[in-house]
Amino acid sequence: MCGIVGFTGAMVKSQDISSILLDCLSKLEYRGYDSAGIAVISNDRVEVRKAKGRLSNLTSLVEREPVSGFTGIGHTRWATHGEPSDINSHPHTNVSGDIAVVHNGIIENHVAMRRWLEGKDVTFRSETDTECIAHLIDFYYEGDLVTALSKTLQKLEGSYALAVVCRNEPENIVVARKDCPLIIGRGEGNNLLASDVTPLLEYTREVQYLDDNQVAKITPEKVEILDLEGNVIDLAVSHVDWDLQSAQKNGYEHFMLKEICEQPYAIDQTYKARVYGEKLDLGEITKTVKDARRVVIVGCGTAYHAAVVAKYAIEHYSRLPVEVDVASEFRYRDPLVTEDDLCIVISQSGETADTLQAMRIFKEKGAKIIAITNVVGSTVSRVADHVMYTQAGPEIAVASTKAFTTQLMCVFLLTCALTKDEQKQKEMMEELSTLSQKAEAVVCRQEEIQRFAARQFNKTKVFYFGRQSDFAISLESALKLKEISYTHSEAFAAGELKHGPIALVDENTLVVASCCHPKLYDKMDSNIKEVKARGAKALAITFEGNDAFEGVADEVFQIPKTDPYFAPMLSVIVTQLYAYYCSVNRGNDPDHPRNLAKSVTVE
Ligand code: G6P
Repeated sequence: MCGIVGFTGAMVKSQDISSILLDCLSKLEYRGYDSAGIAVISNDRVEVRKAKGRLSNLTSLVEREPVSGFTGIGHTRWATHGEPSDINSHPHTNVSGDIAVVHNGIIENHVAMRRWLEGKDVTFRSETDTECIAHLIDFYYEGDLVTALSKTLQKLEGSYALAVVCRNEPENIVVARKDCPLIIGRGEGNNLLASDVTPLLEYTREVQYLDDNQVAKITPEKVEILDLEGNVIDLAVSHVDWDLQSAQKNGYEHFMLKEICEQPYAIDQTYKARVYGEKLDLGEITKTVKDARRVVIVGCGTAYHAAVVAKYAIEHYSRLPVEVDVASEFRYRDPLVTEDDLCIVISQSGETADTLQAMRIFKEKGAKIIAITNVVGSTVSRVADHVMYTQAGPEIAVASTKAFTTQLMCVFLLTCALTKDEQKQKEMMEELSTLSQKAEAVVCRQEEIQRFAARQFNKTKVFYFGRQSDFAISLESALKLKEISYTHSEAFAAGELKHGPIALVDENTLVVASCCHPKLYDKMDSNIKEVKARGAKALAITFEGNDAFEGVADEVFQIPKTDPYFAPMLSVIVTQLYAYYCSVNRGNDPDHPRNLAKSVTVE
């Protein structure tokens, strides 16, 4: 999804302004984009450079047509209104080119605004919703950019994180947010902004998370934060302890492989953050979960799949009813939520638009909310009553891996807290303490999966099936493969095979059967035989010591034995690695899959 950056003030490490902006934008590449641009106040002008395609196109343009200065903004665009093109790329300017704007989000009333401005003889150059913002600011500008932006915001409907520069105020960047993240980095002799913290890490660890309906004036020496009435707000400065190393590849070919391999450590850290001397300590959360009568969990994409895994574990161990839904469906279906429900939202970024909207419904109904997120200070973390942070560190690859397995650790810890039987709880905690080592044992066998992928990557259809939590992990496994290898992959409950999917099975099909519920081995055995009889190849993932699938499936991958409800944390590593190697074998870039964005901050 779109990314924005900005910098004003003293240069760092003898970089010039364009290299700082390009460097910051490169840290946002992982979010997915199709064009990029910068605007710099240079020699009493606003100089704009923008180019469709990869950031390298913009870099080449800037090399051919350099800009110098001390204040600038930048953008990576993920097209929504208007195709990816040089013209539609941000920054957008007013007619005279004195004001430049970068924008994340969607202006919902842009058609009305465009008509209104055209009625005032404004000629538009692009098809974007954003361009009207530049013209509106121009319309209201009477010598003070903050006032002009505040008046503009009153006309806008929709979501935005905005950064604006103006020729008449050469040291200032004015920013605003509503429903899209915007973070201000506090430097020394300079200040920055970005749509997430990763671009800021090179320059500072002290950040301020702008809230909705706030405007900030950023100068080299000062950051002034105001509400829409112009009252000054004292916004806390937070320290980010993610290190720069963890946002770099460190010798790995791709971020995705690095992040898959980091999982044992991340799982361990997430466990240790909540367990002291083998005792689960969820602090305030303990009291909240005690009163729960029902659990409702929402998320999107991979986070939703963590919710599905959670449903099986929580219902089995706590005997509480659990409802799960994708946030985009939940928010529009007039859901039944009461103040007695325990609501859990799962979001790696903490900024997903639909997830935030679902959260607002929980709030309105008076339910208590626990957020599971990876980003300290994210919107989700600020709206929730309680937060469980996944200790995954920055996740750069678009396809989520370590965020997912650490989300699973959080939901398993919550499962323990919701379990009334103390003996059972003790056994579960003991098992959870072993999972990072067991994950390590799977990661160490990546070459076996690489060889398997080399043999099977060109199958045109890949179906994942399983029963219970093995079905839940099939959903995530199929998503991973389609995201980065562009293979048609689907997941279904193994019992549904005969109700449709088997019609698609032929010799071009690979079936990945997750078989980690011993009570259901026989059922899975029959399902594997059914697809094999129709020419498919089959990989079975099961526990060490279970040879029941040898000779039944073409390949069997045995993972360390664990509680069947926790097994998704280990079996998913196998399917993540399979997806990764298929993507590489197909010549794709797994870190930047086509059309996808890391953080979906618009509907
Ligand atoms: C996008 C990402 C997925 C992610 C989903 C939800 O689709 O590509 O990897 O699972 O958004 O994101 P969240 O940040 O809310 O977990």
